[in-house]
Amino acid sequence: MLQYYDPNKADPSKDYGTPASLSEKLVTLEIDGVETCVPEGTSVMRAAALVDINIPKLCATDNLEAYGSCRLCAVQIEGRRGTPASCTTPAEQGMKIWTQNEKLAKLRRNIMELYISDHPLDCLTCPANGDCELQDMAGAVGLREVRYGFEGENHLDAPKDTSNPYFTFDASKCIVCSRCVRACEEVQGTFALTIDGRGFDSKVAAGQNESFLDSECVSCGACVQACPTATLSENSIIDLGQPEHSVVTTCAYCGVGCSFRAEMKGDQLVRMVPDKGGDANHGHSCVKGRFAFGYATHNDRIKTPMIRDSIDQPWKEVGWEEAISFAASRLKSIQAEHGRESIGGITSSRCTNEETYLVQKLIRAAFGNNNTDTCARVCHSPTGYGLKQTLGESAGTQTFDSIMKSDCVLVIGANPTDAHPVFGSMMRRRLREGASLIVADPREIDLLKTPHLGDSAHLPLRPGSNVAMVNALSHVVITEGLEDTDFIAKRCESDAYAKWRAFISEPRNSPEAVEEITGVSATAVREAARTFAKAPNSAIYYGLGVTEHSQGSTMVMGIANLALATGNIGRDGVGVNPLRGQNNVQGSCDMGSFPHELPGYQHVSDPIARGRFEAAWGVSLDDEPGLRIPNMFDAAIAGQFRALYVQGEDIAQSDPNTQHVEAALKALDCLIVQDIFLNETAKFAHVLLPGSSFLEKNGTFTNAERRINRVRKVMPAVAGKEDWEVTVDLANALGYPMSYNHPSEIMDEIASLAPSFAGVSYEKLDKHGSLQWPCNDQFPDGSPIMHMESFPMPEGKGHFAITEFVPTTERANRKFPLLLTTGRILSQYNVGAQTRRTDNQAWHDEDILELHPHDAEERGISDGDWLGITSRAGHTVLRARVSVRMQPGVVYTTFHHPGSGANVITTNNSDWATNCPEYKVTAVQVEKVSQPSEWQKDFVANHHRQNKFLAEASAVAASDE
Ligand code: SF4
Ligand code: SF4
Ligand code: SF4
Ligand code: FES
Repeated sequence: MLQYYDPNKADPSKDYGTPASLSEKLVTLEIDGVETCVPEGTSVMRAAALVDINIPKLCATDNLEAYGSCRLCAVQIEGRRGTPASCTTPAEQGMKIWTQNEKLAKLRRNIMELYISDHPLDCLTCPANGDCELQDMAGAVGLREVRYGFEGENHLDAPKDTSNPYFTFDASKCIVCSRCVRACEEVQGTFALTIDGRGFDSKVAAGQNESFLDSECVSCGACVQACPTATLSENSIIDLGQPEHSVVTTCAYCGVGCSFRAEMKGDQLVRMVPDKGGDANHGHSCVKGRFAFGYATHNDRIKTPMIRDSIDQPWKEVGWEEAISFAASRLKSIQAEHGRESIGGITSSRCTNEETYLVQKLIRAAFGNNNTDTCARVCHSPTGYGLKQTLGESAGTQTFDSIMKSDCVLVIGANPTDAHPVFGSMMRRRLREGASLIVADPREIDLLKTPHLGDSAHLPLRPGSNVAMVNALSHVVITEGLEDTDFIAKRCESDAYAKWRAFISEPRNSPEAVEEITGVSATAVREAARTFAKAPNSAIYYGLGVTEHSQGSTMVMGIANLALATGNIGRDGVGVNPLRGQNNVQGSCDMGSFPHELPGYQHVSDPIARGRFEAAWGVSLDDEPGLRIPNMFDAAIAGQFRALYVQGEDIAQSDPNTQHVEAALKALDCLIVQDIFLNETAKFAHVLLPGSSFLEKNGTFTNAERRINRVRKVMPAVAGKEDWEVTVDLANALGYPMSYNHPSEIMDEIASLAPSFAGVSYEKLDKHGSLQWPCNDQFPDGSPIMHMESFPMPEGKGHFAITEFVPTTERANRKFPLLLTTGRILSQYNVGAQTRRTDNQAWHDEDILELHPHDAEERGISDGDWLGITSRAGHTVLRARVSVRMQPGVVYTTFHHPGSGANVITTNNSDWATNCPEYKVTAVQVEKVSQPSEWQKDFVANHHRQNKFLAEASAVAASDE
């Protein structure tokens, strides 16, 4: 089997022409007199490249299967007639190959001559000048003259397609090598491109001969990267020219954690190129990481600290020292008047591990309480709880690459092609190879439309019925004798298993009994359970459609039960895999952001763990858990909680029941917001501290597979400070001394206090590229797969948990007959603060309410109508899209635009164990309306007022200069 990533970690900066072979059998051959040994199935081209014999090539590149169209890579092989293409010829035992002789040189020159005779000779003014394989190959084969003129038919006037905001397709430069078409198919899995026509008339076409923007292209950039000429070029390269140096760093958007080369000209970022050496992405990207970086230099960036006494006043621009001392004195006086517990802080999953660690340290050590929480509260806190209870560790069990060994993939409440696109592409690749797919989701997600998909099943369950569904799947496994008895006997706690077995076998958990609840036919559930249990390797991937429910934690445990019962834990191809939303959700949890856990998931009540932190930090720590975010809001409204420090989160937009959140923020005496923009939360702030983007700082992010990746500074921080430096200053101003010269020293401190990070250091990260925790004496190079031998639980055994289905109290009735569920789309990210300030707006510039034609017809609603959506919490207005992707009775929207007020209608309902909000189930009614909601009118008024305050502050500062 060929694989597009290289398990042998060949030099990622070199193109070996064809993918690596995974065969364990080796063959020995001789190339230009050099003897070499390669895995069977390796191409002659790759075998040569591995010993630095670089055969000219045009249509081959090492992340695509060999195609054999250009013939430039011809070689001679002893005992074989003709000149076979080295890219499509596998290396064989005893082969003798010549890559250079007069005959081959002449053949290659002739081929290049034909290409060049139909190619614009504008090398000096071409954007790819200096980075063009056609140019390189003309040089490599020694082409000196072109005997054919440009008279006669040619493609030199072929049109340009400039529809995509990020790249241009200049057809006049196309050599029809098909690398773009194959990249779109093999790497991205979208199949947006074809070669249209035959012979001389062949040309690359997007969609049904549409523009790139109108086609199904998702702007991942794989074709641009694959193109050996300037035919497909980034617009930034056309505008700015070729970069001069690069720095490898990590995407700051989603939990895939793709590695990129930030290619620079001085301090200016020219383009982001996915790094082939990236262990999470192997050289692939999505539109966000690849192109949507313009927000970092957007005019809206906050560049100066600002303070004010009240949110009804204009801002005053001040220096760092004044802002920090203003914030510190406010915090101190509030604590003096209202007590130690009256203040707290929120860390961000968008910030680095080091920054997050420092914020929770500031709260515990300098504020003197445990009132620290993180945005993971509202997304994956049930993952932390549920997996800890069953598997013993609050993290996913696999690497992304593990999916390439899966035979059955169960996706629950996740939409990987939109929310985790690079992993979604890898998943699609495995599905095209024949793994079966089961999707449990109210919507028909795009994964189900994967071209060349094999067996697949959609279980379109009703929102709120996850636990009933997973119980039914396990019921079938147990009652039909499909469980893995060996695994259960060896690896699981017997008492808990016996109790769970009795519970799950009860007829009330059967697919037939829960059909009414889930809305999915019992036959389909039985079939899915059999497919999952019988496949040699079955893996579960889940997202916020699992966690953001009143039974989010129960569902996570139900998933772990299913994996344990079928023995799908502890090896490649299986496992329980939470797909984390933001870039550093895993990291922010690991770093001790939750009120009850110190870094490394050590409970604050554990005297030994607490003692270690007390010794290291030189303070005594509170042994009682502090407030969670929803408790902070309630306490603020009750007047007990008076000040909040929020780093890098926009709780006013992202948290549920916006009007409740706004009331809490308005009740605070002091709100300190540290962010790169005046976000919705900052509109309620008294201190605004400029944040630094991921391009402006050093640190690490930890992705959904527990992979710690380096974030490297590529340009100076716009306001002069990296985020961690601001937290250090605030701690010092509060009288708690903090002193670090570089984030590497913060990581050293983390390693000394969190056992699963004990072996992590910047030196080791730079050497390995990345490390998956646990990384310690037991696993010095990290742990790609967890729980291989035992679980970090009593006696090392996995624990089955009883997962009783308890329906949510948020139910549809006559007044609110529809269920609203929320999600994300590919081009926007979370609250949209970053992506809304990029050309990604071309794909999605407003949140839309999707509803089924049946529900639309009943209410006389057509596409594009304005709809008033009313829930028990509030009312907002969105435009309608009528879509058969929805099931009748269920409506769907995104929350990327603040003025939409999607969270005005979500409620305070939350997960019983963790308070994770129930974003995925809100009972609503919709009707046609003609004007925005009252909240939306207030929102617009406040937006203008707060932006005016900002503009006035800049004007005053400018006039003072
Ligand atoms: S940008 Fe990606 S999706 Fe679009 S055509 Fe290129 S490879 Fe296909
Ligand atoms: S656009 Fe580029 S990659 Fe695609 S066929 Fe033309 S030259 Fe090859
Ligand atoms: S998949 Fe996620 S991490 Fe990768 S480029 Fe896209 S947004 Fe960034
Ligand atoms: S590189 Fe081998 S045929 Fe094109």
